[in-house]
Amino acid sequence: MIIVPGPSSKELGHKIAQLLNEEIISIEQKVFPDGENYLRFTGEVEGEEVIVVQTMGPPQNTSLIQLLFMLRTLKELGAKKTIAIVPYFAYARQDERYRPGEVVSAKIVIDLLEKVGADKFITFDIHNLKLLKYFKIEAINLTAMPLIGEFFSKFKLRKPFVLAPDQENPKRAEIVAKILGCDYSWLDKFRDRVTGEIESKIHEDFDVSDKDVIIVDDIISTGKTIVNAIEILKRKGAKDIYVGCTHPVLAPGALERITKAGAKVIVATDSISSNISKISLAPLIAGYVKKGQL
Ligand code: R5P
Repeated sequence: MIIVPGPSSKELGHKIAQLLNEEIISIEQKVFPDGENYLRFTGEVEGEEVIVVQTMGPPQNTSLIQLLFMLRTLKELGAKKTIAIVPYFAYARQDERYRPGEVVSAKIVIDLLEKVGADKFITFDIHNLKLLKYFKIEAINLTAMPLIGEFFSKFKLRKPFVLAPDQENPKRAEIVAKILGCDYSWLDKFRDRVTGEIESKIHEDFDVSDKDVIIVDDIISTGKTIVNAIEILKRKGAKDIYVGCTHPVLAPGALERITKAGAKVIVATDSISSNISKISLAPLIAGYVKKGQL
């Protein structure tokens, strides 16, 4: 097996290879003066099973085109099998034609990955599990929630409680709550499809008075989802508020917005490198590969 740390996931790819004690082939990369990407594999892949680690964090379009270039080239160079580990799967939020004429980007990206020759696709906390059904190749979704739960279990939390800021996947909150041995709940979030503005409401009443609350989500982009959740929690008398997410997409101003709203700690995985990426996905990925589950 060969591991290729793609340009957007160099550090994570190296960590995975190190844990697996597998050979790495690095990518020579440059950007031409006009902005086009040049990539080159620096070793042989013929007849090999190759894992490409390439997240699709910002700049999403560059990460995607590099991923497509790498997968197709691996096939042209004779790789036996290509496994795309894409910790953050961008464009996943546009998973339906919600308004007439809209581009369903998620389906197009999946189509492209398959067309260039990906044999298997692995991602983390995919925005909506229904996307897995759009794949014709094997597609696996893993969750970073156990890692986030373990991370917060090391904190001295007072009467912890876990909250998911929307109805998309209460399971995530459930996983973290189980590790912390506490209750959980979730909010209902409504998005105006034209303006993008969101409104959050309590799904079912819960008691967080004087409790430390951990908000868990798949993505922090603008941070507005988390801010809404913090405001609700504060109104309900929560004590300290912690935030954990898998994918720190972090649009400009997101962290400042969340900190200003009153979060004590904001943490994420290294699915995308950032200042808050304190939890590595590498041991989890390496563990699955070792067990032959990927
Ligand atoms: C979408 O519903 C996701 O689960 C996240 O809650 C959302 O993408 C976060 O976006 P933002 O940080 O812009 O509110």
